Amino acid sequence: MTDDVLKKAMKGIQASLRRVVKKTFSEDPESGDEFIQKVMQKVSTSTDPGAAAASSDLVLEAIVENMKIKQDLFGFLDKMAPEHTVFASNTSSLPIGEIVSTTSRQDRCGGLHFFNPVPMMKLVEVVATSSTSPETAESLLNFTKALGKTPVCCKDTPGFIVNRLLVPYMMEALRLHERGHGSIEDIDTAMKLGAGYPMGPFELSDYVGLDTMKFIIDGWSEKEPDNPIFAPSELLNKLVAQGKLGKKTAEGFYKYKK
Ligand code: CAA
Repeated sequence: MTDDVLKKAMKGIQASLRRVVKKTFSEDPESGDEFIQKVMQKVSTSTDPGAAAASSDLVLEAIVENMKIKQDLFGFLDKMAPEHTVFASNTSSLPIGEIVSTTSRQDRCGGLHFFNPVPMMKLVEVVATSSTSPETAESLLNFTKALGKTPVCCKDTPGFIVNRLLVPYMMEALRLHERGHGSIEDIDTAMKLGAGYPMGPFELSDYVGLDTMKFIIDGWSEKEPDNPIFAPSELLNKLVAQGKLGKKTAEGFYKYKK
């Protein structure tokens, strides 16, 4: 973790707050600015994860989706954090039980899976592994409620609830297009106007990140190679190989302003 990354993260939080404040304080922009300042004062950063964990009741990890790196981080934090500290991962598709297997507090570990854009999406998936204690599950549920979110309880199964349904749906949209059964634009329009989705599957894939989609589907297809809903897509693989990862690179299925 570098200072630059942390500065960028703080800017991101501030930009999101500005969007919210613009609406909620539209009549009184000065109070809105005060509100942003107050919130930002409560957020502190550190490039030293061990020191940060030493004074935390809850550690929520949201680093790169790599099992070994996550396991190493939790193994390290386990030595630095107090006994009572609860560990949670925001992974979208890796097994939580495996991620926290390097700790000696598996009863105090679980998953807290948020959705993009986090300030707008009300859901949090609270994941209990077979080792998560009822007290830990309860405290994770209470934490999400205190944030003003709505939690759902999930088992530690691939994709939990949302991604297990959403990713195969987005992959099937890709395959539908690859079979020549609909253009990208028409499939998106169809699902928005015919099924009431806020974004079509291609818009949503670009928003989530095509690399993330590929990572999730490759992981599942490795475990269940004969399951057709986990079958890879040539188009997705090609775009990722070309570095066209969606909104974040200004090009995926669609082109975006840089
Ligand atoms: N921070 C704060 N507010 C934000 C925001 C952000 N980052 N992004 C959007 N908003 C707010 C806007 O300010 C706006 O607020 P009002 O309606 O109160 O004015 C509202 O969201 C709508 O934004 P826009 O008008 O700009 O655009 P929109 O109507 O198209 O909505 C959207 C944008 C909320 C993203 C909507 O399209 C949507 O809900 N899309 C589906 C998102 C989704 O499915 N997310 C899950 C992805 S899967 C995932 O995250 C899991 C994983 O592990 C891969």
